[in-house]
Amino acid sequence: MKDKQRQILVTSALPYANGPIHIGHMLEYIQTDIWVRFQKMRGNQCFYICADDSHGTPIMLKAQEKNVPPETLIEQMKNEHERDFHDFAIDFDNYYSTHSTENQMLANIIFEKLNERGHIKKRVIKQLYDPEKNMFLPDRFIRGTCPKCNATNQYGDNCEVCGATYSPTDLINPISAITGKEPIEKESEHYFFKLYDFNEILHKWTREGHLQNEVTNKLDEWFEAGLQEWDISRDEPYFGFKIPNTENKYFYVWLDAPIGYLASFKNFCEKQKIDFNYWCNPDTSTEMYHFIGKDIIYFHALFWPAMLQGSDFRKPSAIYAHGFLTVEGQKMSKSRGTYITARSYLNHLNPEYLRYYFAAKLSAGIDDIDLNLDDFLTRVNSDLIGKVINIASRCSGFINKNFDGKLSNNIHDLDIQSEIANASDVIADAYENREYSKAMREIMTLADKANQYIDHHKPWVIAKQENRDDELQSICTTGINLYRLLALYLKPVLPTIAKNTEEFLNIDPLEWKDSKKMLLNHKIEKYSPIMTRIEKKKIEDMITETKNNNQ
Ligand code: 2FM
Ligand code: ZN
Repeated sequence: MKDKQRQILVTSALPYANGPIHIGHMLEYIQTDIWVRFQKMRGNQCFYICADDSHGTPIMLKAQEKNVPPETLIEQMKNEHERDFHDFAIDFDNYYSTHSTENQMLANIIFEKLNERGHIKKRVIKQLYDPEKNMFLPDRFIRGTCPKCNATNQYGDNCEVCGATYSPTDLINPISAITGKEPIEKESEHYFFKLYDFNEILHKWTREGHLQNEVTNKLDEWFEAGLQEWDISRDEPYFGFKIPNTENKYFYVWLDAPIGYLASFKNFCEKQKIDFNYWCNPDTSTEMYHFIGKDIIYFHALFWPAMLQGSDFRKPSAIYAHGFLTVEGQKMSKSRGTYITARSYLNHLNPEYLRYYFAAKLSAGIDDIDLNLDDFLTRVNSDLIGKVINIASRCSGFINKNFDGKLSNNIHDLDIQSEIANASDVIADAYENREYSKAMREIMTLADKANQYIDHHKPWVIAKQENRDDELQSICTTGINLYRLLALYLKPVLPTIAKNTEEFLNIDPLEWKDSKKMLLNHKIEKYSPIMTRIEKKKIEDMITETKNNNQ
């Protein structure tokens, strides 16, 4: 273990405030939360920061549809999101909103710095405009016939049938998805961020180990095509921040969203009396990591570092992208009942089942991950209940009944104890490198060995024999110590099990370095089941609820 405490700022992508959290989102929050909990167990200073992404046209329209001010909608959504995260044991140090004074201030500072240095330019563009609603239409609010393959009812920017991408003004027979009216073309002046000013620095930065290799390769295609200028403004009506010194221009939601990472952190720093400038200046020794989905790489690996570079803020230490979640091998689907919201899941199943399942499937790459419901049931039941929890329940009964809850003052088999304790570095490396599936495999191999040890020594047989009390106590003490190590290694993934284990064992919160210790001559509490098996019926009920919700 490194002696020096690291100082680490970690974020997950900010969820939009116009819809509920679903299990596809949860993949990312669970992945990040595991990493943060691991860092904290290692003794590092680590802050997990997030916020609702509260601006943009869809949120404005949704608020209109519900007949409430957008501020009311985003407040409600934030509360809902926070409740879902809390119930999944996602432990943010700060959860904020991009609609905040801190974010407005930082967005203005960054914009003005970029502007002063000539990285912003204005240009008049033509866009489709809904003459009834009196607003410019974002691409996803325009439908029409694909100019390439003639498929009808396609989005304004790409065709789901032939995969073509195009400009909305190329669509045949476009209509506004808001009013059904035919849009007109209208001119407006927009602000553009000159991304190509940062071409060289980005080209270098994307090759310096801040990105996964697959991501760097993907970016190469974009570098080859040439970096384009980025439209960062929107006309009113818009729900967002007004651009300084303009009458009716707003920052595009994607301009202030990543700034929202820093704004939420600033809000946290003010509450905790932490020096924001120390963490965010370009020469800081602190680390900053963004966990994101692979669909938003462009924003995080190009626009964001360029914006930070151009406004004298620190750049990310790394960006960690993950793949998408499929359910039963397919995209989540409302009609199949696999578009599972966090709340529908929680209504039926223990969140730690899913935390474990995701951990067992996650690696450091960007491949998609599949939730197969039969595999989910089998794996959680056989690994967590059959292998891990089983050790505690098999050994604790004897300790409680025969020895008044007292562990012996010696370990019966130091070899197995050391073998499992010595795995701590390999497992730590796997967590650090986000190779969680590798960590879970290691831990389950150790659990198999612990079970073999108990099977071999058969405490239930010894308990029936005379004069073998000392042996029985030290065998069960060894079993409890092995269980303690497994619970420690699983703690980043299964914080509630870890907490119940700490209560059962009557010990302080487990830290990584505790793998070097043993629990001897110590009184434990009575065992009560730490986790129960998944029942198939609960999964079926969840799917039924999901289907009903979408009817
Ligand atoms: O794709 C999304 O869901 C965005 N709301 C993510 C924003 S991440 C960050 F840049 F704020
Ligand atoms: Zn097409």
